[in-house]
Amino acid sequence: MKRDFIDLWNLEPDEAWEVIGETLHIKNGTKRVGEVLKGKTLALLFTKPSTRTRVSFEVAINQMGGSSMFMQEGQLQLSRGEDVKDTARTLSRYLDGVIVRNHSHRWLEEFSKWASVPVINALTEKSHPCQILSDVFTLYERFGEDIKRLKIAYVGDGNNVCNTWLVGAGLFGLNLFVATPEGFEPNSYYFQAGEDLAKMTDGNVYLTNNPLEAVKEADVVYTDVWVSMGEEKEEEVIEMFRPFQVNGELLSNAKDSVLVMHCLPAKKGQEITEEVFEKFADFIFTQAENRLHTQKGLLDFIYTAREV
Ligand code: CP
Ligand code: NVA
Repeated sequence: MKRDFIDLWNLEPDEAWEVIGETLHIKNGTKRVGEVLKGKTLALLFTKPSTRTRVSFEVAINQMGGSSMFMQEGQLQLSRGEDVKDTARTLSRYLDGVIVRNHSHRWLEEFSKWASVPVINALTEKSHPCQILSDVFTLYERFGEDIKRLKIAYVGDGNNVCNTWLVGAGLFGLNLFVATPEGFEPNSYYFQAGEDLAKMTDGNVYLTNNPLEAVKEADVVYTDVWVSMGEEKEEEVIEMFRPFQVNGELLSNAKDSVLVMHCLPAKKGQEITEEVFEKFADFIFTQAENRLHTQKGLLDFIYTAREV
């Protein structure tokens, strides 16, 4: 049976850790994956802009011996109203996998239902599982098994990245404190999924509207844009986010050893100051680099024969 990766819960906790562990070997060169996708063609079907996800997937596929093809919806008959299910069934006859970045999570679920090849979520308005898988890898690479002892604070908008962090904390057994303004909390379904998983893995997910509570004594402070792709927020709404800006003052509540993460792209002056961004730039760009290694780990997992 094909393996889809639409949300993080498509991996069991032990499988998710396997991907993280293998990614470390791939990055270190102790595992070779140059032939895993030999003879295979994967397409990226994107309806939103992308720098990191697109390029890291295309490079990963090519370095794994496969071919990648970039497709935009406007160039397909989808843009003229062809059914999602017909598009999925047609593309499945040509391709070995489809990586989708889309405005509608529901659309992606429909597409994956009809596709007979693996479908990977490269970001929807609800979730961004490849990002959080890679971010957990970045923390594991830095902290090893101590990752489970960290206090991780997500501060900002309760968006796709935040939703997925909740599931990631549950899946990997991490301690996550999420602080968002009132009315901008993450999706309750994802919160519940994170909580349910956390019960099995000894993780902890906690929501607050107080950024100081989340950041207090934190080891890691994570943020993302206040206005996601496809969204609009009025200036007065943006003002509600000001106390959630990751700046020097907010970070003074965290541990001295705190690390700051950002999935990028960053809107400096909104969710993070230029000063804080530059202070942690090396770690933030290692985080971006690790998208490439983790895509390889994920593709290796999906395309190396295994029972479901
Ligand atoms: N973090 C991330 O997904 O970046 P892109 O939008 O550039 O792909
Ligand atoms: N929340 C952001 C993430 C970008 C990688 C967005 O959806 O635009």
